[in-house]
Amino acid sequence: MKIISSIEELRDQLRGQLRTAFVPTMGNLHEGHLSLMRLARRHGDPVVASIFVNRLQFGPNEDFDKYPRTFQDDVKKLEKEGVYVLFAPTEKDMYPEPQEYRVRPPDGLGNTLEGEFRPGFFEGVCTVVTKLFSCVQPRVAVFGKKDYQQLMIVRNMARQFALPTEIIGAETFRAEDGLALSSRNGYLSDTERAEAPALFQSLNQVAGEMRAGHRDPLALEHGAMEGLAARGWKPDYISIRKRIDLQAPTSADLERGEPLVVLAAAKLGSTRLIDNLEI
Ligand code: PAJ
Repeated sequence: MKIISSIEELRDQLRGQLRTAFVPTMGNLHEGHLSLMRLARRHGDPVVASIFVNRLQFGPNEDFDKYPRTFQDDVKKLEKEGVYVLFAPTEKDMYPEPQEYRVRPPDGLGNTLEGEFRPGFFEGVCTVVTKLFSCVQPRVAVFGKKDYQQLMIVRNMARQFALPTEIIGAETFRAEDGLALSSRNGYLSDTERAEAPALFQSLNQVAGEMRAGHRDPLALEHGAMEGLAARGWKPDYISIRKRIDLQAPTSADLERGEPLVVLAAAKLGSTRLIDNLEI
């Protein structure tokens, strides 16, 4: 595996490749990330991964400084997956001058759910993904459904800008007890780790009720948030949305059997976890 940090060298290395499959990450790789590498390999060749902790998508009081950086371990894992190039730019490589040109998603999608609680987050994501795509020029790129809203925003961005990159969604990789794997799980204490699957359980409960014909999403959301709060969580949202645009379903939508997804974000101690489940 070639490890490349400069954009120019990356371009030299990938020149003429027409079927590149790309998996962008922020490192601290776990099985969820590796499942994306495997999916990428089924959709293209060579597979290119990136590791870059993107400052633009972190708020001033978020965990940019303490975000886990485990580069040597990550390299070993990617080598085992047959990744051809790892693009690992430094901050100077990626942002040699202040990144004043930005890509901002539309308000409806960019300012709801995660966007409401992390202002500027999706602008940071869209900007870095655009720049990474410009460096790698992939034919396909793989994103996890774990970050459901991110996947949808990137997919819509690629469509509206007519980018030559097809966006592929990968299923969420979970631990045996249902907890979605995440780099931030490493922040959890042992007791918190034991409690953490309650988030997915609560999504399952909401999804189960909706599938059984429950017609009052707001009451279900409220109940689920109360339930988590009673166990010591601080929920930001548990929200039933339409899969198509992540807006709240009307009663007509519910009657019509519009495809839905329930999304959640909640803090356990000082760790913020997110998860979702298609209904
Ligand atoms: P990061 O959190 O490192 O995630 C990289 C990719 O792995 C994302 O597409 C994410 O959805 C996926 N992923 C994470 N956990 C997963 C799991 N348990 N199952 C399946 N896929 C999982 O998301 C980012 O980085 C950044 O925002 C990035 C897109 C790299 C832009 O900076």
